[in-house]
Amino acid sequence: MTNLFLGLINEFLGQPPNASEEGFQIDHILEFSHWFMAALFFGWSAFFIYVLIRFRKSRHPVADHEGVKSGISTHLEFAVVLIEAVLLIGFAIPLWGKYVNDFPDDKEAILVHAVGQQFSWNFHMPGPDGQFGRRDISLVSNSNPLGLDPENAAAKDDLVVLGELHVPVNRPVIVETTSKDVIHNFAVPAMRASQDSIPGHIIPLWFTPIKTGTYEIVCGQLCGLGHYAMKGTLVVDTPEDYQAWLKERAELAGTTVAPAPETVTPGAEPGPTPGTIPEPGAPKVGDPTGSNPAATPGERRPNA
Ligand code: CUA
Repeated sequence: MTNLFLGLINEFLGQPPNASEEGFQIDHILEFSHWFMAALFFGWSAFFIYVLIRFRKSRHPVADHEGVKSGISTHLEFAVVLIEAVLLIGFAIPLWGKYVNDFPDDKEAILVHAVGQQFSWNFHMPGPDGQFGRRDISLVSNSNPLGLDPENAAAKDDLVVLGELHVPVNRPVIVETTSKDVIHNFAVPAMRASQDSIPGHIIPLWFTPIKTGTYEIVCGQLCGLGHYAMKGTLVVDTPEDYQAWLKERAELAGTTVAPAPETVTPGAEPGPTPGTIPEPGAPKVGDPTGSNPAATPGERRPNA
């Protein structure tokens, strides 16, 4: 009951309902911070109005050079600093430490690469072999947005999808994010997950979806004129639906390199048709050279 009431402030401020296993911890910190800020806002506002009236010119035509003698404001300010220090050192930093240190087991998690570009998200999945194929900047084109190397064996079954990512419910998801151009931020508010996507770096984040549904992926860094439109969709599926989606994507791709959806012409590009998709085991990160991001500083995005 108390929790419900405390949580109202997040809802009031537009926070979407949490859909991840770990998100409630972030929500608790947000709840506390928002209530604390609300108390400070109303407290200081009331004090300000009191001071305006109490020390108005008609009552104090001559300024008092001694000022306040009571130490109450010092005590109040010390209390505020103390509460903020406890929030930061006691809760926020340990929680952040947990997020960056306690990654879920590779064998259990779904591993995906999310590559930002002005102004969309590309998702790269390793396919049935669990190996991410080699990517090369020189191969980047409109139909091969991540520059997957068609000659690379590990790349043959890889899936590249623009804008919409599916994951199964109740399994941890590790997203390794990078960028092809400027700094973006891979953010899924409903999962309480957010991480900067930086050209030349591969930075992981993780979350465990616990509710099936469709959630918004947004870009959390002002990255240019189209920033507001840089959205994607995260669909949390039942394991069966997830399998069906993987199969559909593989069939649509029908080739080593999946073109972006708008340019998909099923069967247009010859290539081996992937068969049934096995139960997605732990996609393992391939050898480091195999998972080079198509991004290095200074790279230009393909002509859109
Ligand atoms: Cu990408 Cu904002």
